[in-house]
Amino acid sequence: MKKLKFRNGDTMDAIGLGTWKSEKGEVTKAVKTALNNGYKHIDCAATYGNEAEVGEAFSEIFNNGKVKREDVWITSKLWNNAHKQEDVIPALKQTLKDLQLDYLDLYLIHWPVAFKPDVGFPEKAEDFLSLEEVPLIETWNEMVKAKEQGLVKHIGVSNFSIEKLKDLMAETDQIPEMNQVELHPYLQQNKLLEFCSKNGINVTAYSPLGSGDRPDEMKAADEPSLLENPVINKIAKKHGGSPGQILIKWSEQRGTAVIPKSTNEDRIKQNLMSAGYQLDEDDMKEIADLDYHFRYVNGKFFEMEGNSYENIYND
Ligand code: A2P
Repeated sequence: MKKLKFRNGDTMDAIGLGTWKSEKGEVTKAVKTALNNGYKHIDCAATYGNEAEVGEAFSEIFNNGKVKREDVWITSKLWNNAHKQEDVIPALKQTLKDLQLDYLDLYLIHWPVAFKPDVGFPEKAEDFLSLEEVPLIETWNEMVKAKEQGLVKHIGVSNFSIEKLKDLMAETDQIPEMNQVELHPYLQQNKLLEFCSKNGINVTAYSPLGSGDRPDEMKAADEPSLLENPVINKIAKKHGGSPGQILIKWSEQRGTAVIPKSTNEDRIKQNLMSAGYQLDEDDMKEIADLDYHFRYVNGKFFEMEGNSYENIYND
């Protein structure tokens, strides 16, 4: 499997286990299955509401000594209600406590969007704080402090457009090390990948399989299926793999990290085995033609009349 390299030489396995939407009652087993079957990269976030259950898996696996903490890359993300200077490090410490860890390998600002501290998920315009009230640089400077304090080894962002990255980079010499974004054949993000590559920013692909298990209110009625796409299915047949494996391999082969979510033992195993396939030039060309800028996670749930968030992705 490919590894992504960070500026200090640290490396991260390209394929990791995603935990967004993993039910509390299933995620402990899923993470244990992953770590017992060769995964060395687990992606978490405070807002997934399951970090304590993920932490139970870490505690059990690391304590029985079969897998060492230092051999696993663990990412988590700062939720939007903790962007204020005084809230960043306490939120990180809560995540470390829940995950039963001393440090994270990577900590990301989850969205370039801020909420009031007591808001879990916003329902009205007043639930937000504007980026004038809490500038992203204020949040970022605390992320830098967290790294200096040894609470996290690397810091980055998620859901940042090129514009948002540029704005942040204009105000700091601590360039984000990662941008985690939605990325799959329907949203190939070529311009963003080029920008990130030029600036030494690694990229992680989320929703690589189309996140079909999202809540209904986050779904468009007529959204296309990635797993049922005829081109993906044809290529899967050609290589003797599953459509999911082709989608995961495509991201890995393009040099990004990719974090398919599964709580199913067979699919957890097969997703890691995607690395063993090799897509040829024809496959890559055919998949390149599938790009039509479709987002499954379109950020519209943060755009409300009367708040200051409009067109979060600048597209
Ligand atoms: P399950 O957890 O039952 O395996 P994404 O990573 O894009 O958010 O997609 C996650 C969804 O894809 C979940 O519904 C998950 O279900 C399903 N899934 C995970 N791996 C595969 C696979 N190899 N083939 C088909 N569906 C998969």
